[in-house]
Amino acid sequence: MFKKLLSFLSVDMAIDLGTANSLVYVKDKGIIINEPSVVAVNNKTGQVLAIGEEAKKMVGRTPSYITATRPLVNGVISDFEVTEQMLKYFIEKAAASTKKIFKFGYFPRVIIGIPCGVTEVERKAVRDAAKNAGARTVFLIEEPLASAIGAKLAIQEAGGNFIVDIGGGTTEVAVISLGGIVTSRSLRVAGDKLNDDIIQFAQKEYKLLIGERTAEAVKINIGSAMPMKDKKEMAMRGRNLVTGLPEEVVVFNDDVQRALERSVRQIVTAIKTTIEETPPELLADVMSDGIYLAGGGSLLKGLDILISKETKMPCKVVDDPLTSVVRGAGMALENIETLSEIMSKDNSDEAFG
Ligand SMILES: Nc1ncnc2c1ncn2[C@@H]1O[C@H](COP(=O)(O)OP(=O)(O)OP(=O)(O)O)[C@@H](O)[C@H]1O
Ligand SMILES: [Mg+2]
Repeated sequence: MFKKLLSFLSVDMAIDLGTANSLVYVKDKGIIINEPSVVAVNNKTGQVLAIGEEAKKMVGRTPSYITATRPLVNGVISDFEVTEQMLKYFIEKAAASTKKIFKFGYFPRVIIGIPCGVTEVERKAVRDAAKNAGARTVFLIEEPLASAIGAKLAIQEAGGNFIVDIGGGTTEVAVISLGGIVTSRSLRVAGDKLNDDIIQFAQKEYKLLIGERTAEAVKINIGSAMPMKDKKEMAMRGRNLVTGLPEEVVVFNDDVQRALERSVRQIVTAIKTTIEETPPELLADVMSDGIYLAGGGSLLKGLDILISKETKMPCKVVDDPLTSVVRGAGMALENIETLSEIMSKDNSDEAFG
């Protein structure tokens, strides 16, 4: 009875705590938060000044006593206190979006996506941060599973599903069958590394120091995973490392593609290696269904075509790849009774009913 009342009062939410972006999905409301995972902190006082979009604007522009940091690195918490603050902000904002706020609390049940293959300590860090941030019940779900659910793949069935989530910090390659991960591989080469490749390229080629946001804009606008027919160019602003003065340089898409080649190859190799490790029965399904790409990094132009060519299998980007983890986690939370087997084992300590 008490549990029933609690679930009536509680706010159910799913959180994708990403290296680059964090999203929150609230039952019956949809995605209500989609902001960069950035927190601006005053070093002198330790006070949090801004979170999300507002904090991202400060990156690279802050006075020395303010640091705009990303509390997650490669999908795992690197700064516990700041992550906790960020989660608190998300949970409160999400709860405020519903009418279920009472003066004695709002009992949120929270499901959070975590990269596969993270250590017990890292899982505990996520769980503790969420509890300290006000969550009543915390569930964890491996991100490739959430992504596959979000993409509406038939993961509960006996067939094999091959999913690659290319985020900011990590690329996760997973084969899923019967609601569980059969084989997986995680590598720390994803969208952020591609930005870094462009920064290095500008430095080497033009002695130009560019910021991360400029590099990302170049990647998104003219970057590609393979040579493209159309020729494109873009102006890139930065500081000349020799003269120290501001400078604008025009870059061409072919050069950007070459700058990204090495990292793109590492992603393709991880996919190929995972295919080699996939049990043959499941591989037969993958050959007909193909490889699904999720995460923001999967939007790099030509990546799906390159992967398809290299693996000789169909490959497609899921609908709305930036939100598949949070949507899938939200769906898992709504069907938690039926999906309980696929949820992380360490959810067992939670009172649930
Ligand atoms: N159109 C695009 N082309 C290429 N890359 C893109 C595009 N749009 C977004 N990205 C990249 O996607 C990445 C962010 O993706 P996503 O939000 O899925 O990552 P995340 O979930 O925060 O990270 P992780 O899963 O590694 O913790 C960024 O590196 C961003 O530059
Ligand atoms: Mg992600």
